[in-house]
Amino acid sequence: MNKTIIISNRLPVDLSFNDITLNVKSSVGGLATGMKSVHADGNGIWIGWSGLTEEEIPAGRHHVVDEALRGKKCIRVPLTQYDLDNYYYGFSNKALWPLFHYFQAYTEFELVHWESYKEVNRKFADIVIANAGQGDTIWIHDYQLLLLPQLLREKRPDLTIGFFLHIPFPSYELFRTCPWRDELLQGMLGADLLGFHTYDYVRHFISTATRIAGLEVRFNEITYGERTIKADFFPMGIDYGRYHGAAIEHERRPVNSRSEIMQNIESHNISYADSRLILSIDRMDYTKGIPNRIKAFEYFLEKYPEYKGKVRLVMLSVPSRENVSQYQKLKRETDELVGRINGRLATINWTPIWYFYRSMPFDDLIDLYVASDVALITPIRDGMNLVAKEYIATRTKSDGVLVLSEMAGAAKELHEALLVNPNNFEQVADSLKYALEMPLAEQQSRMEALQKRVSRYDVERWSSAFIKSLQETKDVVTQTQ
Ligand code: UDP
Ligand code: G6P
Repeated sequence: MNKTIIISNRLPVDLSFNDITLNVKSSVGGLATGMKSVHADGNGIWIGWSGLTEEEIPAGRHHVVDEALRGKKCIRVPLTQYDLDNYYYGFSNKALWPLFHYFQAYTEFELVHWESYKEVNRKFADIVIANAGQGDTIWIHDYQLLLLPQLLREKRPDLTIGFFLHIPFPSYELFRTCPWRDELLQGMLGADLLGFHTYDYVRHFISTATRIAGLEVRFNEITYGERTIKADFFPMGIDYGRYHGAAIEHERRPVNSRSEIMQNIESHNISYADSRLILSIDRMDYTKGIPNRIKAFEYFLEKYPEYKGKVRLVMLSVPSRENVSQYQKLKRETDELVGRINGRLATINWTPIWYFYRSMPFDDLIDLYVASDVALITPIRDGMNLVAKEYIATRTKSDGVLVLSEMAGAAKELHEALLVNPNNFEQVADSLKYALEMPLAEQQSRMEALQKRVSRYDVERWSSAFIKSLQETKDVVTQTQ
């Protein structure tokens, strides 16, 4: 029986050693959290990086790592510290990530990074080939592996190859600035189906394929030599049932068994009955608009001083890619801004911003979602943003308001949210006020519409739509051969 192999840079588990003891944590980020339930239900395997470099695995402990991964239906691609520095931090996160998110000034094109990117994509190809049976379906994920579709096609034309990009595909004007644009494009064109979160990203890809490679396109089908490749949009969903169920479970739990952070919030709410909570959760990433959000919140407190002492911004920023200097700079800027604003505005009883720089376990995340009156999600640019959908799923009474950046892929689906331009502080401040004062009936009518959509188009539906379309593309190709 054919199987599906999922491939991404990061596996759903993040391993580390404490001396010789292996620690297993869940990976953070939309790709890992979203695909996890698809993987858990299927009969396939997941190939990727374990979070450990070869140098970090103590002598004689490789079998412990492999066994732990086997239990989770995962296979690792061994990456060295050199690979990590050059392929992952280097080309993936200093060139592709900023370029595809329109941060052109942050983009560094280095030949050694590019060489390593090619080399690591080849490493992935070798491991996939060693594990793929005749006619298996391969589902490759994200910008770290843009060359992999073509590398696999060259060696294994029997495979059905799908590729999904979890970040925006930029306009041709951005993509063309990359010195290795032809190779990247050729790499992607090795797939039978290319999936993106939104229609706009598909249009950008097709225009790029036409203008860089002069390919013929009919609607969303690209003719490439003898082959037809389809590009289409599949907005990624969440495991709605898991988040909604966990929120219901949260309400059943006695207060003293809730997380420490929740107990603090609750004791605060008892003392300050009319105080309100605004939540933001994201990786500490410059695409997420964290400094802008903090400044907009400060502006809101100045414009509407009646909210001083009544509203708190709870900001969870998860450490990410800490070896990259732009991320270090962002961390410093955030620390300074939070310090300055709290220092200036806090009173004995009130701190405007509660700031956490860490990741939180699933139950604590649910506590935060459930406790918040407003979610303020204001990326400068974001492929999708699953946090917005998770907030919606946890509103068991259909109350609460989502304030969402129009620059997130999710804004294309979540029309009933209050959509804002994250650079327009006036608009963000006014939307916050509107959200905090929104009558319950309006909250519920907006939230119910959002819940209907997010529950219907969940991650299961997303993955089956992608796999079905991949199968159809392959069938058409086989018939025309
Ligand atoms: N998340 C997590 N641990 C945390 C905070 C967040 O696992 O401490 C998850 C969050 O629930 C969501 C994902 O990380 O599923 C973030 O996905 P999103 O699409 O919003 O952004 P990305 O990080 O992929 O850019
Ligand atoms: C985004 C990317 C993923 C990545 C995740 C976490 O969601 O699309 O590919 O895994 O961020 O980033 P990291 O670099 O820690 O894997």
